Order: sequence, then C-alpha cells, then structure tokens
Amino acid sequence: MEQKDQIRTNEIKDITETQKQIAYIEKAGIHVQRLKEELGRTPTCCVTTFGCQMNARDSEKLAGILEKAGYLLIEDEGADFVIYNTCTVRDNANQRVYGRLGHLNSLKKQMPHKKIALCGCMMQEPSVIEKIRKSYGFVDLIFGTHNIYKFAELLVQMFESDDMVIDIWKDTDKIVEDLPIERKYSFKSGINIMFGCNNFCSYCIVPYVRGRERSRNPKDIIREIEALVQDGVVEVMLLGQNVNSYGKNLEETMSFAQLLREVEKIKGLKRIRFMTSHPKDLSDELIQVMKESKKICRHLHLPLQSGSTRILQAMNRRYTKEQYLALTEKIRKEIPDISITTDIIVGFPGEEPCDVDETIDVIKKVKYDNAFTFIYSKRTGTPAAAMENQVPEAVVKEGFDRVLKVVQDTAREQVNKLSGQTLEALVEEVNEHDDRLLTGRLSNNTIVHFAGDKSLIGQIVPVYLKECRGFYYFGEI
Ligand code: 5AD
Ligand code: SF4
Repeated sequence: MEQKDQIRTNEIKDITETQKQIAYIEKAGIHVQRLKEELGRTPTCCVTTFGCQMNARDSEKLAGILEKAGYLLIEDEGADFVIYNTCTVRDNANQRVYGRLGHLNSLKKQMPHKKIALCGCMMQEPSVIEKIRKSYGFVDLIFGTHNIYKFAELLVQMFESDDMVIDIWKDTDKIVEDLPIERKYSFKSGINIMFGCNNFCSYCIVPYVRGRERSRNPKDIIREIEALVQDGVVEVMLLGQNVNSYGKNLEETMSFAQLLREVEKIKGLKRIRFMTSHPKDLSDELIQVMKESKKICRHLHLPLQSGSTRILQAMNRRYTKEQYLALTEKIRKEIPDISITTDIIVGFPGEEPCDVDETIDVIKKVKYDNAFTFIYSKRTGTPAAAMENQVPEAVVKEGFDRVLKVVQDTAREQVNKLSGQTLEALVEEVNEHDDRLLTGRLSNNTIVHFAGDKSLIGQIVPVYLKECRGFYYFGEI
C-alpha cells in the first residue's frame, strides 16, 4: 500500500535527541498530510488521560507532538488517532482501560484507517503487554513511560508498519528537553521537576513502572517556567513523585527549598504549587521558604497512607504516627492559613479495625481540608502483594466507610472556616453546570463559584466567600 512506503528523509543521526525527534515530527507530518489528502479533511486525534498530574503533563507532550505533525486535537474518541495514556496505581484504572478498548475496537471497525495507541504506566507491566497482544490485536502502537520522548519516532514506525509496534524499556537515565507541548490551560501549567521514585513503599507499583529518581537540571526548569510566563502562565505546579528529595542526584546538588527560592524570583509568575511531598523528607528549610514566600500557595498535599505506626512500618513509609503528627503541628504553627490534604489507604495487608482507629485519630487531629481515600489494591510484583494476611473485602469496606465519614465531616468543617472572608481566586473556567458562573481556585486549593464574565479567565480576582456548600463556596467578586 502507498501509505506504508517509507518516507525518505536525510539520515537522522549525529544530532541531539531533541533535534532527532523534531525531524521525526516532520516525517510523521508527511504521513498525516497524505492521510489528509485521502480523507479530504484534516485528520483528528484524541488524547485520553488516566491517573495523576504527571500523566496529565505527559499527555500535553503527546498532544504537542500530534498537533505539530498536523493533527487536529479533539476530545472525542471517534478521532482518526486515539491514544490512551494509562495508569496502573490501582487495579480499577487498568480495568477501565480494558473496558474502553472494547468500545474503541467497534469504532475502528467502522473506520479502518483509525489508529489506536496505548502508553503510560500500565504498559510497563509485562502481563499487560501479553494480554493486549493476545486479546486486543487491533491496537497499533504501544510504548511505556521511559521512551515517551520518542513518540514522534514511534508514530512514524506505526505509519510504516502493518503490525502492532511495541517499544517498552525497563528504565532510562535520559531526560529529553524542549519538545513541543500543547497546554490544556493557557494560564496554568504543570512542570516536571523530577521523574521516578526511589521509595519503594511496599504497596506501590510506581517505582517499578516509572523507574529510579532523576531530577531535571534547575536551569532547564527555570528556563521552561520563564517561557511559560512569557506565554501567559501565572500559576505553575511543580511535579514529582517525591518533590522533597529533588536535586539529590544532580551533579551540583540542590534542595527542593532552594529550587523554590529560584522559581519565586521569576517575574510575572504569581502562584507556585507543588506535589507530592513525602513526610519523611519534608525539611524545616521548606517550611521556612513556604512561610516567607509571596507566591507559594497555602496548600500542602502530604500523604499519610495510614495512621498506625505498625502498618506504616509494613508499608515502608519510614515515619511513625507521632512523627507525622509532630510535622503537621509544626507546619500549622508556622503557616496557620495553610490547608493540608492527604492520601489514605484502607485495607493494607494485616490492617485491623484498631489500625483504622489510629488513622481516624490522625484525621481528627490534623483536620485535613480534603483526603483521597483509597481501598488497598494488590499490585503484582510489589512486596505487599506477597503478604499473606490480605484483609477480607467486607472488613475493608467497613473500615473504608468509617474513614470516609470522618474525612467528609472534618473537611466540611475546615472548608467552612473561610466563610465571610474575601480571598484571591485564580479564575479557571466557566462553571460546568451554569454558564453564568465562573469557577476559581483559592491559594489553599478550595474551589469557589461566582458570577462573572469569561474574559476574567486566567486572572486573579478577590472573591467574597459567601456560602459554604460542603467542599466548595459560592461567592461574589
Ligand atoms: N492501593 C491503593 N492505593 C494506592 N496508592 C498507591 N498505591 C496504591 C495501592 N496499591 C495511593 C497512595 C498514593 C496515591 C497516589 O495512590 O495513597 O499516595
Ligand atoms: Fe509510590 Fe511511595 Fe513513591 Fe509515592 S513515595 S510513588 S507511594 S513508592
């Protein structure tokens, strides 16, 4: 078939990885152009993201490359090219992908030129690749987390092959800078400051699928943020699995607090957020920098996972209940207007009702503004999956419901404390349910809805917090 012909370009070698990938984007563009002529319209693509903020940022990189190659980005899986950027942190994320792939297959049957690609964390698991090879033969391209920078090159391979293209790496130490990125929001952006994780919490699959910790060079981070600010960004979210250990593997080591000081200096940048912090690595220096900062938002996401020291030890979290409580007390004392949010897992192997009581005790003492509560999910290959004392489902459910109730009551009480104040909100979008309203986010991450014109999107405006509705507010400019 004509389309399968290899397109000749100048030899792509002896150049930097970035230049090489940019050459591949051009080459992919020739294939997209051919498709355009065949279809009589611009080919469309759709990037669907599962999972965390890291994945959302990766999806912006995928979208950037697809747009540069000539695709029109749409939010509809009826597109000519669909890519799923997958998550595998809990099994329900995997099940969702398999469920939706069935639907994609039926769309592809009506549209034979349609291409389907899968990437992200789930693809780093050999059993997943086996299953897709066997039962989902209609997929055209699969790659993992370590070689996402090669997306353009893999697209070209996909266009030039009749078979499923699979490229999965076990690990990498490479960080490729300066590839195109298509941001979802014009005024805010995530920034990767590091990749991977070295913590090996015993329940967690992330270190296996995202590899070892690698920090980006501070100069590259600052340069990227400066360019974003030039382009209209006022709020950045610094992203890493464990931002508090940023800089440890750099040639010239640098702490996360030092990096924040540098980011703070960027003119025109108004807000700085970051995630995620591991309690064991959160330094006094960081608390100090947050306290003195005019730009760092009054919000800290500090995953607890469990309030029971015995379970924390089995989880390999490397802090005790008392250490965690002392840390949050210190933070609240130094930065009284901060909101603290967390992640909690219920049903870890060996957990008993008295351990859940300990977790509830911490929730009541810390008074979280919000907490994501998860049912423990057994991930093959992690130490916890091999533990014998897995908790029966009914017991987990009982504990989960108890935790959820306390989390909701505490959060409602915390959020309600802001009633009557006037605080600055970054206007993010027109309200999903009522287009007369705008939706904004306070520094402490609380959401507020208020009447206003959509021309305010991207601006920071003072909002009077009139009425608390559980986890969010109705307010007035
Ligand atoms: N089961 C349930 N929750 C998990 N998380 C990570 N691994 C698992 C698992 N196996 C949760 C943790 C982490 C969040 C991102 O996901 O709470 O902080
Ligand atoms: Fe997973 Fe623990 Fe690393 Fe977070 S710190 S990504 S929970 S191993």
